[in-house]
Amino acid sequence: MTPASALQPISPEAAAGLLSNLPIRKVKELVGEEVFRDYLDTLNGQQLTHLLYDWRSWARPEQINPPGDWSIWLYLAGRGAGKTRTGAEWIKERVENGKARFIALVSQAAADARDVMVEGESGILAVYAQNDPNAPKYEPSKRRIVWPNGAQATIYTAEDPDQLRGPSHDTAWVDEIAAFRNIPDLWSNLMLGLRLGDSKCFISTTPRAIKFIKDLVHPDRTDVYVTKGRTRDNYANLSKPFLNEIITKYEGTRLGRQELEAEILEDIEGALWSRSTLDKNRVDKAPDDIIKIIVALDPTVATIETATETGIIVMGKTAKGHGYCLADKSSTFSPSGWAKKAVELYHQWEANRIVAEKNNGGEMVDLTIKTHDKTVPVKLVWASRGKLIRAEPVAALDEQGKLHMVGSYPKLEDELCTYEGDGDSPNRLDAYVWAATDLLVSGIRRRGIVWGRG
Ligand SMILES: Nc1ncnc2c1ncn2[C@@H]1O[C@H](COP(=O)(O)OP(=O)(O)OP(=O)(O)O)[C@@H](O)[C@H]1O
Ligand SMILES: [Mg+2]
Repeated sequence: MTPASALQPISPEAAAGLLSNLPIRKVKELVGEEVFRDYLDTLNGQQLTHLLYDWRSWARPEQINPPGDWSIWLYLAGRGAGKTRTGAEWIKERVENGKARFIALVSQAAADARDVMVEGESGILAVYAQNDPNAPKYEPSKRRIVWPNGAQATIYTAEDPDQLRGPSHDTAWVDEIAAFRNIPDLWSNLMLGLRLGDSKCFISTTPRAIKFIKDLVHPDRTDVYVTKGRTRDNYANLSKPFLNEIITKYEGTRLGRQELEAEILEDIEGALWSRSTLDKNRVDKAPDDIIKIIVALDPTVATIETATETGIIVMGKTAKGHGYCLADKSSTFSPSGWAKKAVELYHQWEANRIVAEKNNGGEMVDLTIKTHDKTVPVKLVWASRGKLIRAEPVAALDEQGKLHMVGSYPKLEDELCTYEGDGDSPNRLDAYVWAATDLLVSGIRRRGIVWGRG
């Protein structure tokens, strides 16, 4: 670079004008820690608060309302990259400049909207300083937030897309749409209602290679503005425990490219399942002629709750021999927790039985379930062969169009479409394979093994 002494000087006023849009991070980088601290010392408490809550001082370029004539801004970013904060700040800015009067806040479930989008650490209430006269009031019983200038936001959920029929909005923020179970109904209702003035929709989500996302990022979509962010861009603002958890879980893995780098992962050669097959077989509703339902369980046996998930899948079968995945309730549970959940699901779905893998825990698995309800029929199965051999016939059923997802199960589908057959298979996948094996593969002889004999 040319040395400073050889350059034409400009006045401090002109420089201030040119540099006025630099985010605070950049300023700190340029002037150095010491000068920056000296500057902070010159500010009084109010000025410091103002600086802290001035989003444009902090935001990275991909987190700021993009220029141009778009209708949908899609911010695809990794876990913890700052998606929710960006949404909350975008709403704040649009309310302040009078563009947002009727706002739709959309999440998968009511609890997500409340705990993340509204009351969360980066939610709407958190982006206002205490006593800020422009801060909104949250009215939980009305699923509503109201601002002093009259703007109001209503909470909607993907679980009840019909709530979006009727009301009109000028602004919508949808958080984590790629993890929604039923996007099409929700999306068409939302778009039909987004008809007031210069209406805009912001979607913040970690991507998944699902049709909805692929359609939005298609180069022909001139109505969509896409920005991208990685988890690592926001390391400085993330807590150590959160970072440790996601880095341990995802770094160096294929799924990490999606969860941390926000890449849209196309189908991989060698994976047993493909997104396109799952999409092709997907149905909105389960058929009426289901004749048998089972709850499949791949339990994690640990004395304390661990980060390992217990796979719990509910699957039904029709007389024609098609399988329908009806629920994925996998999560991290204590042994008593997974047993209780499986029994609950057995009753809720009026299932025929619980099928549980006994590799971890042996007969204890049965006993644990029986302590919650001794009348539940339990079939214990033993995984004596490699995961791949067990998974292959189930993947083949998917390929033949005989297995259907009812709605979508983002985490299960991620596991299916990224598993290449080596190493430990993930537990949702295992439970899915047990469910389909029990309902649809049992009795079929393959390579001399009788499937489903536990
Ligand atoms: N540009 C920024 N400057 C300062 N802090 C930021 C910035 N962007 C995000 N943050 C902070 O980083 C933390 C994580 O942000 P946020 O919750 O928005 O991430 P996320 O992508 O929604 O995470 P998750 O994947 O868990 O939903 C929050 O404390 C948020 O306030
Ligand atoms: Mg978030």
